[in-house]
Amino acid sequence: MRVLVTGGAGYLGSHTLLELMALNYEVCVLDNYSNATPEVLSRVRSLSNGTVTDYTGDVRDDAMLDRVMAEFRPDAVIHFAGLKAVGESAEKPLYYYDVNVGGTLAVVRAMERAGCNRIIFSSSATVYGEPTYLPYDEAHPTTPKSVYGQSKLMAERILTDWTVANGAASAVILRYFNPVGAHISGQIGEDPSDIPNNLMPYIAQVAVGKRDVLTIFGDDYDTPDGTGLRDYIHVVDLARAHVAALGYAVRHTGARPFNIGTGQSYSVRDIVAAFGRACGAEIPVRQAPRRVGDIAAMQADAGRAMRELNWKATHTLDDMTVSTWKWQSGNPDGYTR
Ligand code: WQD
Repeated sequence: MRVLVTGGAGYLGSHTLLELMALNYEVCVLDNYSNATPEVLSRVRSLSNGTVTDYTGDVRDDAMLDRVMAEFRPDAVIHFAGLKAVGESAEKPLYYYDVNVGGTLAVVRAMERAGCNRIIFSSSATVYGEPTYLPYDEAHPTTPKSVYGQSKLMAERILTDWTVANGAASAVILRYFNPVGAHISGQIGEDPSDIPNNLMPYIAQVAVGKRDVLTIFGDDYDTPDGTGLRDYIHVVDLARAHVAALGYAVRHTGARPFNIGTGQSYSVRDIVAAFGRACGAEIPVRQAPRRVGDIAAMQADAGRAMRELNWKATHTLDDMTVSTWKWQSGNPDGYTR
């Protein structure tokens, strides 16, 4: 099976390439390197000892999409390419809608022109917004609190309506919880281009000495230790969910959302303690007020993915922190773009 991976040089895309290649899928990457580097694909090639066709281009470029479709002739597309910073999305809403909504629209239109009917879409649990109950299942109301979340929900809508009109089309919508961790080799991992917004890469940079102290946002949430609870999922488990989703897309038409999480949640303090165990040193922390827009707790009901995709997360919290530390300590400056 031939799979086009947009955003394939990114954090999630690169781990997914390795899982696909291990199972002999033929892969092709389209990436504009706005938040990635070609070095990632060199490492994927040497780790897999396989072939990765790659095109440098933007998912909003119709001519480029037509070229990739004509030359690679994918049986399915995994669409990772997009923007993901919640704060930035409030400052640049039109940019976010252009890339995340316009980009998805352009990809699906190119698929239609080429007769490719299967897409796996990178969505986010952030589409749910403030929980009315936890764990979230896929029927939970969707009221995202950020432009970023709205852009993902709008793209989901486009894909859903496409499959209603095109009876041969299949759209598998994966709503990711909090992806963390790195490949077991320590050769690929998350490499934020700026100050990390997210907890795990921030802790990793404190542990390696690039930042002095982790700021814990809020200790007065209604949670056991007062800090925020999240459903962290190992990036390799998340990558494997895409392989499972491809199998599902072959067997089904229509659009269907799936939560991709472990169904467990950990607090900020749990993550700090686990990282301390992984790196053998205490992580310095300081307490600050809540971060604007944060919610107290998020947790997946991952039952649908288990039942229908036959997929389940297998990595533990220690797997997440140990692999992150292996990547960060071996690559203190990331891929050095
Ligand atoms: C986790 C917890 C913070 C940093 C965001 C997006 C979401 C998704 C993933 C997708 C929270 C606390 C964090 C720090 C801290 N993006 N924290 N100090 O907010 O659950 O989700 O990233 O593409 O859409 O909203 O993840 O890792 O930022 O935070 O105390 O320096 O860690 O308050 O409780 P979040 P996160």
